[in-house]
Amino acid sequence: HDPSAMDWPALGQAVRSCRACDLCETRTQTVFGVGNRDAELMIIGEAPGVEEDRKGEPFVGRAGKLLDLMLAAIGLDRGRVYIANILKCRPPGNRDPRPEESSACRPFLMRQIALVNPRVVLAVGRVPAQNLLGTDEAVSRLRGRWFELGPDSLPMAVTYHPSYLLRSPEQKAKAWQDLQAAHRLLAE
Ligand code: URA
Repeated sequence: HDPSAMDWPALGQAVRSCRACDLCETRTQTVFGVGNRDAELMIIGEAPGVEEDRKGEPFVGRAGKLLDLMLAAIGLDRGRVYIANILKCRPPGNRDPRPEESSACRPFLMRQIALVNPRVVLAVGRVPAQNLLGTDEAVSRLRGRWFELGPDSLPMAVTYHPSYLLRSPEQKAKAWQDLQAAHRLLAE
């Protein structure tokens, strides 16, 4: 039952059958992750919303469309990167993940990161950033810096969540800068 040694099929099965927190009672289905399992760039979001819960794929709603545009700005698409969330199941009403939900789900994400072994990780939004870095600092203070994530010290940057950018389009320029910085590191 320890995800840290699982291969992709075992990990997928473990997520599909997970009942580690109450979100299993309200989900339509789990949302595992999507994209290239050999990706150089891994995007980490918060949790499935209503459309992701319906389709079983991360970032397929309005925010997902903007994420696709953000990736296109650096010449990438969702088939080239790997996209996953902190939570694999939708929190009812899209509330923030609860600490016990994030910690129950964490081994799955950590195993996804280890299996993909990307060169760069990008946390989109407050929830994944604070969760992965163990901080309560705002995205505005976390972006524009490089952090080291996990046992392999993968370079990780933080940027705004596309849902936030839909509400605050004046911040888009900063998000674009963050993507360019990730792109530059990938090009090195
Ligand atoms: N927002 C997220 O953080 N993840 C998704 O998969 C969809 C919306």
